[in-house]
Amino acid sequence: MEPGEPGEPGEEAWRGPGGAPLGGRALLELAVASGVAAWAAWAVLLMPGFRRVPLRLQVPYQPAGPQQAANALALLRGRSGKTVDLGSGDGRLVLEAYKQGLRPAIGYELNPWLLCLSHYRAWKAGYHGKVSFLKKDLWKVDLSDCHNVIVFLAPSVKPPLATKLLAELPDEARVVAGRFPFPSWTPTSTLGQGLEQVWAYDMKEVRRAAQSSTEGSRVQ
Ligand SMILES: C[S@@+](CC[C@H](N)C(=O)[O-])C[C@H]1O[C@@H](n2cnc3c(N)ncnc32)[C@H](O)[C@@H]1O
Repeated sequence: MEPGEPGEPGEEAWRGPGGAPLGGRALLELAVASGVAAWAAWAVLLMPGFRRVPLRLQVPYQPAGPQQAANALALLRGRSGKTVDLGSGDGRLVLEAYKQGLRPAIGYELNPWLLCLSHYRAWKAGYHGKVSFLKKDLWKVDLSDCHNVIVFLAPSVKPPLATKLLAELPDEARVVAGRFPFPSWTPTSTLGQGLEQVWAYDMKEVRRAAQSSTEGSRVQ
């Protein structure tokens, strides 16, 4: 068999539906069509409702796994007060929080498909009217009366989110972060390993640490 013949190992020709090799133009069309399909899936399914959110603050949907959810909720066990999930996806963490007795339990989400799914899941679980899923931009929500805040968001938005939480949350609030910690905060406790790890931050402690590091840098 000559090099380049059909069937030759290493022959990389892409083939169309009839088995004929695709030419350069067909490959280009295929690449453009895949790009358009990927963009459409992003715009229509994953990120509708995000037009007003600056690109650097947009976080796509990636649901918490069962162990991540269990760890996050374990760090809120025994607490009370208003509980919110910032970017609540399909509502799974809000429903678990409600089951655990955390009330009111509220999810803020911009994606209308995920909001529909959240309402459906609440109805199916018998929690219709008991939990809330609101179409609100998490960057614009007032958090001053929240006592438990769940955050499963990308690492890139953690610094601006830390600024918002420090400015708005009461001292008694606890923030539970999944997948990625807040880079400049020291956690009160943590649970799990690797991708399952979650971190809890008590705002009083976070503020105390921030204050003493400011005072320390003033003394030097
Ligand atoms: C990584 S997912 C986490 C979903 C859910 N918390 C969970 O753990 O299963 C992040 C979610 O935040 C939502 N989101 C991102 N930016 C948002 C914003 N500015 N306001 C409201 N929701 C937002 C996304 O649509 C997505 O569903």
